[in-house]
Amino acid sequence: MRTLLVTGGAGFIGSHLIRHLLDHHPDYRVVNVDALTYAGNLMNLQDVQDDPRYTFEKADIADAPAIDAIFSRHQPEVVLHLAAESHVDRSILDPGAFVRTNVVGTVTLLRVAQKHWADKLSDKVFYHVSTDEVYGSLGAEGRFREDTPYDPHSPYSASKAASDHFVRAWHDTYGLPVLISNCSNNYGPYQFPEKLLPLVILNLREGKPLPVYGTGENVRDWLWVGDHCRAIDTILHGGRIGQTYNIGGDNEWRNIDLVRRVCQLFDELTGRPAGTGERSITFVTDRPGHDQRYAIDATKLQTELGWRPQTPFDAGLRETINWYLTNEAWVAAVRSGEYLRYYEEQYGSRLS
Ligand code: NAD
Ligand code: DAU
Repeated sequence: MRTLLVTGGAGFIGSHLIRHLLDHHPDYRVVNVDALTYAGNLMNLQDVQDDPRYTFEKADIADAPAIDAIFSRHQPEVVLHLAAESHVDRSILDPGAFVRTNVVGTVTLLRVAQKHWADKLSDKVFYHVSTDEVYGSLGAEGRFREDTPYDPHSPYSASKAASDHFVRAWHDTYGLPVLISNCSNNYGPYQFPEKLLPLVILNLREGKPLPVYGTGENVRDWLWVGDHCRAIDTILHGGRIGQTYNIGGDNEWRNIDLVRRVCQLFDELTGRPAGTGERSITFVTDRPGHDQRYAIDATKLQTELGWRPQTPFDAGLRETINWYLTNEAWVAAVRSGEYLRYYEEQYGSRLS
């Protein structure tokens, strides 16, 4: 058995990744280390919680003694590091939390891994899951490559850029075997509703305004979360140590076009007259420092490792909309307390 330690496994991508690993690797044990912040939710993992190959450890990645004890207890050979503060708008409201988790937390993990693995580094991997936002903002042309210079603008992307640099520094300075991937926007079930797609789907369900920042012309590249997990698996098993791989969906959408498409699919799936959803679109004050366009060139991952996105966008959107419509208990649990306060601060209106 091989033991993998996944950080942030109770979040959106982390929970999909744990399910993927348990499904595809019968000889893997997975230890999920998560602090259960507002974004962490063990309901995301209800279907695997009784699997004897799965263990949950509640801990903060910036808490060195706690992480050290977890390494001693489980002796992982692989770290898949996803724990992070992940929402750009929250990083504008409270940047300190992003420095603490994304920078200090990552460095804490690196130090503990190095300490525990120092005697035999050769069969270990520290895999850092990062974002395309570290590369900054594109104009109408071009795509991010692995050698695109870093140019982060938000406190979130600056903290992720810093964490990437520290991971590379641990490789170059101490020989820690690392892998890094930088991925575009993920979508799918279990995404916290602060993010654009679940927010729009849930507001559509309730007939609330659909807030589109600025003029809605910012562009993002969307990837089904399961395709991202498959890419991480592919890179973990075939990627060259010390390298970075970009992951993207080759699927660019202007926000306004995406929101309109979700409205159309939502009307179709719920049997409402066409055009109903779109009437709720509301243009609101833009995000400060809003990056204009992200686009990923994933040629390296495609040619070296043969990965390609597989889920057609409309099929993934339909599945996502249906999931949010049929998982009311999950929705009710996450849209409470802290989230209601955040929503009011961010959008100046109440959800309930
Ligand atoms: P998420 O916000 O849904 O989940 C983050 C998880 O990390 C939560 O379970 C939370 O409890 C946990 N966490 C936060 N602070 C912690 C701490 N100090 N100690 C331990 N656990 C902590 O995030 P996500 O969207 O699943 O993103 C996961 C990773 O993937 C992040 O590193 C993010 O930067 C990266 N990423 C996300 C996307 C995307 O579109 N969502 C795209 C590219 C990269
Ligand atoms: O590119 C990868 C990144 O994608 C990840 O690293 C981040 O963790 C993830 O949150 C996501 O960042 P974005 O800022 O692109 O995602 P978000 O869903 O917040 O916003 C998508 C776009 O929609 C962005 O241009 C801002 C816009 N938006 C967002 C919200 C929440 C709106 O117009 N209205 C909204 O209410």
